[in-house]
Amino acid sequence: MTFSREEHLWIPESDLEGMSVDTLAVRAGQIRTGQLEHSDAIFPTSSFVYGSAAQAAARFGGEEPGNIYSRFTNPTVQAFEARIAAMEGGEKAVATASGMAAILSTCMALLQSGDHVICSRGVFGTTNVLFQKYMARFGVETSFVSLTDLDAWRGAVRPETRMLFIETPSNPLCEVADMAALSELSRANDALFVVDNCFCTPVLQRPLEQGADLIIHSATKYLDGQGRCVGGVVVGPAKYLDEIYGFLRSAGPTMSPFNAWVFQKGLETLPIRMRAHCDNALELARWLEGQPQVTRVFYAGLASHPQHELARKQQDGFGGVLSFQVKGEREEAWRFIDATRMISITANLGDVKTTITHPATTTHGRLSPEDKEKAGITENLIRLSVGIEAIDDLKTDLARGFQALKD
Ligand SMILES: Cc1ncc(COP(=O)(O)O)c(C=O)c1O
Repeated sequence: MTFSREEHLWIPESDLEGMSVDTLAVRAGQIRTGQLEHSDAIFPTSSFVYGSAAQAAARFGGEEPGNIYSRFTNPTVQAFEARIAAMEGGEKAVATASGMAAILSTCMALLQSGDHVICSRGVFGTTNVLFQKYMARFGVETSFVSLTDLDAWRGAVRPETRMLFIETPSNPLCEVADMAALSELSRANDALFVVDNCFCTPVLQRPLEQGADLIIHSATKYLDGQGRCVGGVVVGPAKYLDEIYGFLRSAGPTMSPFNAWVFQKGLETLPIRMRAHCDNALELARWLEGQPQVTRVFYAGLASHPQHELARKQQDGFGGVLSFQVKGEREEAWRFIDATRMISITANLGDVKTTITHPATTTHGRLSPEDKEKAGITENLIRLSVGIEAIDDLKTDLARGFQALKD
């Protein structure tokens, strides 16, 4: 008897062409072994064997494709890379040990001493430290500008500018960048346009379609979605990804097979999770706007948000993260946070469990007071990464915070 799929240990890319991100999340990139398992296999091995010394030589020499050593070739990692690349519409992906390792690998592979970077001011605090402290030591200077001020971006360009780096929406203030305009600026100046797509994921926004050259993810966040593993990934065209892969092979900021497997399984539920996060976050943002002890809510889904229309145009949803300011200072923000009982006090985001964070003393705690002020990280600011719990239960827990402010 012959079977129509006999030769297909995986679904060829061409059979999935044109399919939606929901389908790609579940189907793209699976590597099936001879056991014909239905769920994805995991390959926790540091090295691979060869049929002969000649084959080993051919693999090392790049004449024969195949696995060599898990610092740079592992089937589980490759399966995750193929899936996220398909979802983002990128030619290739390189998975890394963390989101920061993804940013570092991109810089190390594609920049050199004397180059200049323009970075949006509202990026994740550690990204700011990486550019400002460490990349500067290797002769790469970075200018920080407001994400939404296009004139400031234009004014910051120098002849040696090689990279524009943004997060959109930004962490924690949910500002939204005009990607088409920044893409145009980067092209006009022969610079790379790099977008950290951590907050939206490919379910809500595909930056490559909007002119980005490279996409960065902290897979630690929504791609996993259940707070289990730390990891990162870069997605984009082969001409850049091959360089990044070369750096990874030499320097080793590699994703482990176990983590890759967790992320691969996480991607399967990403589309339905993202929609649930968006629904809950929008409802909470509206509810928070109506609270007398709240002075401002930052969420692009609100009509009051300055880039609401741009977000509608660029994104398929507004995401699961929002921030708000309570009346008062650090003391009031901390009192609010401490009064919640169910919501987790933790700095991670993108989890199915709602998390609450005081950015000024945690994620952005290493910024100087001036940088915090410029980035809008005030002491009364609280960030919520809204999970998928029942909305009324989230309100009940947050109401404990408001009660504490009244007492
Ligand atoms: C937007 C964004 N990018 C990058 C990172 C860094 O990722 P990781 O913690 O996986 O190194 C984070 C971490 O919180 C983040 O929020």
